[in-house]
Amino acid sequence: MSRRRILATSALPYANGSIHLGHLVEYIQTDIWVRFQRMQGHEIHYVGADDTHGTPIMLRAESEGITPEALIERVWHEHKRDFDAFGIGFDNYYTTNSPENRAYCEEIYGSLQAAGLVARRPVEQFFDPVREMFLPDRYIKGGCPKCGAKDQYGDSCESCGATYAPTDLVNPYSTVSGATPVRRESEHFFFRLSDPRCEAFLRAYTQQAGHLQPEAANKMLEWLGAPGESRLSDWDISRDAPYFGFPIPGTLGAKFFYVWLDAPVGYFASFANHVDRRAAEGTAIERDHFLKPGHDTELVHFIGKDILYFHALFWPAMLEHAGYRTPTRVYAHGFLTVNGEKMSKSRGTFITAGSYIEQGLNPEWLRYYYAAKLNGTMEDIDLNLADFCARVNSDLVGKYVNIASRCAGFIGKRFGGRIGAMAHGAQAAGTPTTLLEDMRAAQGTIAGLYDAREYGKAMREVMALADRANQYVDHEKPWELAKQPDQEARLHEVCSTALNLFRLLTLYLKPVLPRLAQEVEAFLSIPPLVWSDAGSILAPGHVIHPYRHLMQRVDPKQTEALVAANRESLPGAAQPATASTTADGTGTASAAATATRPAKAGPAPATADGSAAGTAGRKAPATADAPGIIGIEDFARIDLRIARIANAEKVEGADKLVKITLDLGGEPRTVFAGIKSAYAPEALVGRLTVVVANLAPRKMKFGVSEGMILAASGEGPGIFLLSPDDGALPGMKVK
Ligand code: MSP
Ligand code: ZN
Repeated sequence: MSRRRILATSALPYANGSIHLGHLVEYIQTDIWVRFQRMQGHEIHYVGADDTHGTPIMLRAESEGITPEALIERVWHEHKRDFDAFGIGFDNYYTTNSPENRAYCEEIYGSLQAAGLVARRPVEQFFDPVREMFLPDRYIKGGCPKCGAKDQYGDSCESCGATYAPTDLVNPYSTVSGATPVRRESEHFFFRLSDPRCEAFLRAYTQQAGHLQPEAANKMLEWLGAPGESRLSDWDISRDAPYFGFPIPGTLGAKFFYVWLDAPVGYFASFANHVDRRAAEGTAIERDHFLKPGHDTELVHFIGKDILYFHALFWPAMLEHAGYRTPTRVYAHGFLTVNGEKMSKSRGTFITAGSYIEQGLNPEWLRYYYAAKLNGTMEDIDLNLADFCARVNSDLVGKYVNIASRCAGFIGKRFGGRIGAMAHGAQAAGTPTTLLEDMRAAQGTIAGLYDAREYGKAMREVMALADRANQYVDHEKPWELAKQPDQEARLHEVCSTALNLFRLLTLYLKPVLPRLAQEVEAFLSIPPLVWSDAGSILAPGHVIHPYRHLMQRVDPKQTEALVAANRESLPGAAQPATASTTADGTGTASAAATATRPAKAGPAPATADGSAAGTAGRKAPATADAPGIIGIEDFARIDLRIARIANAEKVEGADKLVKITLDLGGEPRTVFAGIKSAYAPEALVGRLTVVVANLAPRKMKFGVSEGMILAASGEGPGIFLLSPDDGALPGMKVK
């Protein structure tokens, strides 16, 4: 087998948010592949970086009262900490805001320009006249043109589901300043994807065997259209100041490269930085063998299916026409769902990597679970938390670790840690081959599955082998042999055989469980396992260390606590005495945040309140990323209003509920509140209280509840409705 030389990447996460379990699907998938290739003896470099440029990062830094540089620096450390915790072994983790990246961007842009592939033309866009900036669509809100719902984003209505253009909004406003946006024209730079050269190249590139997965190649055909149809439009690669990014040369600081131009170039910049660092340590890597065409190296990108367009069209076309090599493979994976649904902050399933660690869950549990679920397609994968516990406990602890825990003690206590001869004849019932031979024979299959990213199938192979090793131990019953003085030699042989099988299983699982494998290597007192070690055994006479238990079981309580810690409306694990009473009287506050924006839509617009300015001396400043802490913009999404209770009546058949008609300053609303134990309905009429006015309506047995009134409750009995001070009027905003 010839030695492959590979540059592997995972997509660069945005520097304006925390790493969450969705991201980790990708980083774990890549890391397993990289570790596997390295165990095969191939040369592989795995690089990543934070994706630091763009409007959201600029505005978020502003709202925190810090510079974008300070923000991305802080987030870089958070991201790095999370990746380290999950064993993501980047050879270099860098930033797109680097001198290397700037130089590559300028050079690539210059080459595209020289090739006649950059065009300029005016574009009309929304402009915020107060903030003096062009507004990306997500920063424009207004009334839904269809149902009239207020405060809807420029692409779709969360109330009625209609989709439309930002220009269709009724009374649009800028979420940056509140001003009414105006239309304004400016000159933009375009990469001429519609040029026949790009089209011809992309037709060939996307359809050539192996560059893309079959389903991705088909998608590209759709995007490209029939030959001659030329569906590709030019790609807008510039943004006007103010923007956080690299200035486009020759524009006097007026134009910047769009973040999606410099982000993939960031792969090269991170690699170049890696090469320089290694050179400083005395290791030479031929940089341009990986970046320029004509060398026997591979460039492999792992990405999510949502960013295929950028990686399968724009990026290869850019590289091709700027004199660089193009990607050998673009591997797209699907999206993570949790318990069968999209990750949701209100359900607590938008789980951050940081919270997983803080709650004390073992990162290798997740690595294994993802491996068991992953394949080489773009299908979504589901993290079912009950299944997660069951799978980890039965496979990792119950099958794999169990082999060592049942046999290692005897080697230590009875044979001074010395390994004995193997029972070479140990056969599984009904097969002519020995267990050891069978395990070795699986090596090629397992390697093929890892290389093809069919980790789920690889894990099933390994667990089937673990089952057989356990059957062997069950059959030989070392715990009974140990009681018979004349069975000493047999005991030694059985336990030595089991540990040899365990060693092989460890080797096969090592790409997935690097930390556990390291502990096993220490316990067995062997050098780091590589793939070719499958051919050898623990030699008789080899001395191992005393066995210590290798892995705990997951307690389902731990995953429950994890979800609770991520439930956005709960301020952390410790819930204060003030609890709101939901319309259905369940007494939890979790229903308060319902509609969450898709991840790609970025954060809610920033307000300039400077609430989370970087605090010196504190290790983890309180930002919206710290578990349990929300930003002011999250709070601002909850529309709290003063309401007058216009009417209150009991509900037939419901012993906790009161049906309340609220007056929100002319607007009547019906809510059902679980406060009957504390308030007689007639005593409520006329008083003022506080209501969550933008809670999605909830259909209940007795009718639709259109909001939630707030009340306090503690450990003991009693529910205490909130009331405002004198002077407050129905409809007033509470903030
Ligand atoms: N910054 C861009 C990538 C630039 S690459 C030159 C970006 N960042 S991201 O933070 O939104 O996503 C990073 C990677 O994580 C992407 O490949 C994305 O598909 C993946 N995932 C983000 N959320 C995910 C899930 N819920 N599930 C699986 N992968 C997800 O896109
Ligand atoms: Zn609507």
